[in-house]
Amino acid sequence: MRILVTGGAGFIASHIVDRYIADGHTVSVVDNLSSGKKERLNPSAHFYQVDIRDADSLKSVFEQEKPEIVNHHAAQIDVRKSIADPAFDADVNLIGLLRLLELSREHNVTRFLFASSGGAIYPDADTFPTPEIHEPRPQSPYGVSKYASEIYLAMVERLEGLPFVALRYGNVYGPRQDPHGEAGVVAIFIGKLLAHETPTIFGDGEQMRDYVFVADVVSANVLSLNGPSGVFNIGTGEGTSVNALFQNINNVMGKNMKAIEAPGRVGEAKKSVLSWEKAKAELGWSPQTPLIDGIRKTVEFFQL
Ligand SMILES: NC(=O)c1ccc[n+]([C@@H]2O[C@H](COP(=O)([O-])OP(=O)(O)OC[C@H]3O[C@@H](n4cnc5c(N)ncnc54)[C@H](O)[C@@H]3O)[C@@H](O)[C@H]2O)c1
Repeated sequence: MRILVTGGAGFIASHIVDRYIADGHTVSVVDNLSSGKKERLNPSAHFYQVDIRDADSLKSVFEQEKPEIVNHHAAQIDVRKSIADPAFDADVNLIGLLRLLELSREHNVTRFLFASSGGAIYPDADTFPTPEIHEPRPQSPYGVSKYASEIYLAMVERLEGLPFVALRYGNVYGPRQDPHGEAGVVAIFIGKLLAHETPTIFGDGEQMRDYVFVADVVSANVLSLNGPSGVFNIGTGEGTSVNALFQNINNVMGKNMKAIEAPGRVGEAKKSVLSWEKAKAELGWSPQTPLIDGIRKTVEFFQL
C-alpha cells in the first residue's frame, strides 16, 4: 500500500515507518523537523520537509505520492506549551488535521489513522483501567485538540465515508525517545543516570501512568491498516508510579541513585491507566512487552 506518515521523523512514527517499509509498503513522510530528526528517517521513505499547515506544499505531496492511507502522527505534543499558547496548539493539531482531511478526501484516501492520547482525553478518570466509553474530560488544550480531532474524524467518516482509526496511547516509551524533551520520563531518567546527573521527581512520585512500549504501539498501527474503524485505547492496563518506574530503571542500570524532590506540577493527573479490551476484541491487539523488558531495550539503545 502507499502510506503517507506525518511526523515520521519523530519518536513513535519513525518506528512505524520502519515497520511499514519492512512489510513492503511504499512510504512517504511529511515532517517539518520541529522536534523530528533526520537521522531517525528511514532512507527508503520519500521525505518531504513540509509543515502540515502548509496547504499548497501538502497538496503537491498528495499529488506526487497518491497515498491510499494517511497515518497522522505530526503534532504539537507538549501539554504545558498547549496551556501557555492554546492557539498555537490548535493551529498545528486542528488546522493541520483539517488540511490533511481535506486532501485525503480529494485524493480518495481509503483510511485515516490518527495518534490520539488516553492520558490527555481522560486524565483522572472514575474507572480504572479506563474504557473508551468513559466520558472525555480533557484538562489541557492539548487534550481538547486530541478529542476534537477524533470528533472531526468521526464526522468525516459519517458524512464522507472515510474510515478512521484513532489510537489513544498511554505513555509511550522506547528507543529514540528524546531525553532532552519535555515528555518522556523514561528517556529523561535514563539520560540523567547515564550522565551521572540526579533526576527530579515532581510531587510525591506516586502519580500512576500506563507505560506502553513503542514496538507494541507499532503493531497497533499495523493492525489498524485493516479491520474496523473507531477509537481504541493502546495501553497495558497496568499503572506504574513514577517512584516505581525510577526504581526499575535504577535496577536495570545497576545503580542506586536518589532523585531530587520538587513540588508537584499544577494540573497533573494523579492516575491514568487504560483498558485495552476493545483493541484486543476488535483489532486483535494486546501489549506484548513487560515494563522491565521495555526498559532494558530502551537502556540498551541509549548506551550505544
Ligand atoms: N509519546 C507519547 O507518549 C504519546 C502519547 C499519546 C499520544 N502521542 C501522539 O503521538 C504522536 C507522536 O508523538 P511523539 O512522542 O513521537 O512526538 P515527536 O515530537 O517525536 O513526533 C512528532 C513529530 O511531528 C513533527 N511535527 C510537529 N509539528 C509539525 C508540523 N506542524 N508539521 C509537520 N510536522 C510536524 C515533529 O517534527 C516530530 O517529528 C503525536 O501526535 C502525539 O500527540 C504520543
